[in-house]
Amino acid sequence: MANLLNPERSSSALNRLPQLRIGLLGFGTVGEGTYRMLEDNLASIRRKTGADLSVVRIGIRDEKKSRRAPRELFTADNMGIVIDPSIDLVVEAIGGIDPALSLVEAALDHGKSVVTANKEMMAKHGARLLEKARAKQIDLHFEAAVGGGIPIVQVLKHQLAGNDVPMMMGILNGTSNYILTAMSQEGRPFDEVLAEAQLKGYAEADPTNDVEGFDTMYKISILASIVYGGPVPLESVHREGITGVDAIDFEYADVLGYTIKLLGVAEELADGSVRVRVHPAFVPKAHSLASVNDVFNAVWFHGDFVGDLMFSGRGAGGDPTASAVVGDVIDVARNFAAKGTGSALPFDPPRAAAGMDDLVSRIYVRLDVLDKPNTLGRISTAFGDHNVGLAAMEMRTTDANHGEIAFLTHPVREAQFVAALEAVEQLDVVYGVGNWIRAIEVTK
Ligand SMILES: NC(=O)c1ccc[n+]([C@@H]2O[C@H](COP(=O)([O-])OP(=O)(O)OC[C@H]3O[C@@H](n4cnc5c(N)ncnc54)[C@H](OP(=O)(O)O)[C@@H]3O)[C@@H](O)[C@H]2O)c1
Repeated sequence: MANLLNPERSSSALNRLPQLRIGLLGFGTVGEGTYRMLEDNLASIRRKTGADLSVVRIGIRDEKKSRRAPRELFTADNMGIVIDPSIDLVVEAIGGIDPALSLVEAALDHGKSVVTANKEMMAKHGARLLEKARAKQIDLHFEAAVGGGIPIVQVLKHQLAGNDVPMMMGILNGTSNYILTAMSQEGRPFDEVLAEAQLKGYAEADPTNDVEGFDTMYKISILASIVYGGPVPLESVHREGITGVDAIDFEYADVLGYTIKLLGVAEELADGSVRVRVHPAFVPKAHSLASVNDVFNAVWFHGDFVGDLMFSGRGAGGDPTASAVVGDVIDVARNFAAKGTGSALPFDPPRAAAGMDDLVSRIYVRLDVLDKPNTLGRISTAFGDHNVGLAAMEMRTTDANHGEIAFLTHPVREAQFVAALEAVEQLDVVYGVGNWIRAIEVTK
C-alpha cells in the first residue's frame, strides 16, 4: 500500500500522478495569493491530493503590469484559457459580474471544474451555475466567497448539513466591522473613521458596497442558500447599512449592555419560510459575536443537534483568502485523482421569503425631545398605547430645551413598533427619531 506520508516514496510516485492543469483568472490580491500558496506548498499539496497540480496559464486585463510570476504564464485572452482543452480547472479571482460570469459559464460549458472567490456572482447567479456544474458532473466551489479565510461554506455543505438551523448570523464585512469597532472604542464619528479606513486601505474609494450592506447581503444570502437548500433572491433580503449609526448610539449601547455590529442574519420560521436580513444590530456584550472586532469576520450558527458554534478569522486579504481558494482546489484535485465530483449541491425551489413585519426583537430607539417634565410620560404612554413595552431607558439634556432619550423595548413585533414610533413622532414633545436599531438575544 502506498505510504503518502513518506516523501521518498512520494517523490518517485509523483511521476505517475495524474496531472491537474490550472488556469487562473485574475492576479490581484486573491489571484496572486493563490498562485504563491500553490507554489510554496506544492510538495505537500501533491502528497495530500494524489494529483500533480500546476498553474499553466494566468489571465489578467493589463499585460503591461509587472508580475511576480513568469511572464510567459500571462495572457489577456481570458476566454482562451477557459476554452483551452488542456486546462482541467479554472480558478476565477477577477470579481464582479462582467466578464467573470461569462468566463465561468464558458468554463463549465467546456467541462472544466471551477473554483471562485466571487460573492456577487454566486449570490446573483449561483443557483444556475451550480445546476450547470451538476448537470456536467463537475465541481464548482466557492469557499472564499464568504468569510475570506474562514472555512464555512464547505462546513455548512458537509459537516453541519444534518442539522436543522433556526438561525445563523455573521459579521461578514471587515470594512464595516473595522469602522464600527473604531467608533465603539474611540467614540469617533463615522465619516472620520471611514476616511481613516480608506487611507489604510481597509475601505475602497467608493465604500458603498461595504458600508451600505451589499457585500454582507451577498454573503449571508449565499450561506442561507446552502443552509436552507434553495436560492435566496436578493430582492427578498432586507438590507440596511451602517451610515446611519452615530457615535452616541455606542454610548447608549454600552450603558444598556450591548455593542453594535453589522449583521447578516438568516432564520427559518415555523411556517417554513426563510427571512434573510442585513442591518446594524445591538449585540449583547455576552454574545460571542460582540468580541469579534476590527477587520475580523465571524459566522455564528445554531444547529438543532450541534448547538451553538462560531467560526471567526480573517475575512479578507491575499493569504487568508488564498487558503480558502486552495482548499477548494485541493477538493477538486482529490476528486480529479479519484475520478469523482464532490460539489453537487441539490437546490429546492426558493423558500417563501418572510418580511420584516413579523420579526420579534428588542429594539433600541433614540429620540430628540423637548426637555420638559411631562415629555417622558407622554412618550411612554404613546408606546404603551401600542403595546410596546419599555425595558430600559437612558436620558440626557443636550441644551437648554433639548434632550435625548434612548429606550430599549421588550421584544416586540416590528410592525407594531413602527406604528408606535409613528405615533410617538407626532407628539409635540418629540423633535425627531435619532436612530433605531434591532437587538439580538443571547441564546440559552
Ligand atoms: N481581496 C480580498 O481580500 C478578497 C477576499 C475574499 C474574496 N475576494 C473576492 O476575490 C475576487 C478578486 O478580488 P481581488 O481583491 O483579488 O481583486 P483585485 O485585486 O482587484 O484583482 C482583480 C484581478 O482581476 C483582473 N481583472 C479585472 N478585470 C478584468 C477583466 N475585465 N478581464 C480580465 N481580468 C480582469 C485584474 O487584472 P490586472 O491585474 O491586469 O488589473 C486583477 O489581476 C473578487 O470576487 C472578490 O470579491 C476578495
